[in-house]
Amino acid sequence: MSNKAIIITGGNSGLGFQCAKNIALVDKEATIILACRNIQKAESAIQELANETGNKNISVRSLDLASLDSVRSFAKNIKAENLPPLYALVCNAGLNPTTLTYTKEGFETTFGVNHLGHYLLANLLLDTIEDNGKIIFVSSDTHNPPKIFPFPAPVFENAERLAHPQEQDNAMLRYPTSKLCNLMTAYAMSEKARKETEKVVNINAFNPGLMVSTNLNGGSSHVQNAIMIIFGKVLGRLGSAEGSGKALAEMVTSLKYDNVTGKYIDRGVDTKSSTASYDKIAIEKLWKESAELVHLQKNETILSFE
Ligand SMILES: NC(=O)c1ccc[n+]([C@@H]2O[C@H](COP(=O)([O-])OP(=O)(O)OC[C@H]3O[C@@H](n4cnc5c(N)ncnc54)[C@H](OP(=O)(O)O)[C@@H]3O)[C@@H](O)[C@H]2O)c1
Repeated sequence: MSNKAIIITGGNSGLGFQCAKNIALVDKEATIILACRNIQKAESAIQELANETGNKNISVRSLDLASLDSVRSFAKNIKAENLPPLYALVCNAGLNPTTLTYTKEGFETTFGVNHLGHYLLANLLLDTIEDNGKIIFVSSDTHNPPKIFPFPAPVFENAERLAHPQEQDNAMLRYPTSKLCNLMTAYAMSEKARKETEKVVNINAFNPGLMVSTNLNGGSSHVQNAIMIIFGKVLGRLGSAEGSGKALAEMVTSLKYDNVTGKYIDRGVDTKSSTASYDKIAIEKLWKESAELVHLQKNETILSFE
């Protein structure tokens, strides 16, 4: 992998940081780009990564997934730079806001950042990724809650409604639905790339399992964390930033994933995702409606979207 570039969105903390660390440990020469909204935070992460791994080729570029202008500038700048060939894009950044907030374009933030920002970014960079390269969308098993959980399973119905929710919509569904969208986007993109282009890119989704130590769960109390750990263990859904970060890094570095595409990899294991995630009509609807929301142009992607 030396002399190749790898982009990790949100690589400054949690799962993304551990993913960057494990890639850097495997390949001290790999060019690793942390795509982050907070440059200062990323720079201290880079210092830590360099000290722990010996890889001096880790750097940051500004990317705010809550702004489509920022996503477009990021992709444009990456393409203009004299970087080693782009080998992998890890769409890892994510958030789970507790209140209703909006992105720069006025989309509900969870859907806007977790799904729309990555949908646009992956489309913009697909043509630049070298043959046999990889795109990984970090999803979550919250897209498929266990039956005993007091949590409804998300089903994709309408992108416009997710982008501009109504007061009566269930706020608890925002995060798991955005993660369902990540999964459906991985399936759609994998199939379209295979059918519509000569390009051989392996496009998959990843589930890290429940990681109570990351900032995503930062708002939870010790008691809530303890309960989540017990449930996670009983249900076999517990992950850790360290272990899952290593499993995610392997999807970039290991030969084992070279011809794997259109799959849902749960902490290293090829796994079946929810029934709703395989609904071909819903997958195509999400793909087209997302293109409309981000005003995707024909010269911005090598895939069909109309
Ligand atoms: N934690 C879990 O239990 C769990 C379970 C399943 C899936 N996941 C998924 O794992 C991924 C990583 O999450 P994590 O648990 O490692 O949480 P985390 O430590 O909070 O990391 C999330 C990263 O996303 C970045 N980010 C958030 N909004 C952004 C934006 N608008 N533009 C650019 N970057 C942005 C954050 O940047 P800042 O540092 O600037 O905030 C941070 O680097 C997410 O996709 C999450 O959905 C997590």
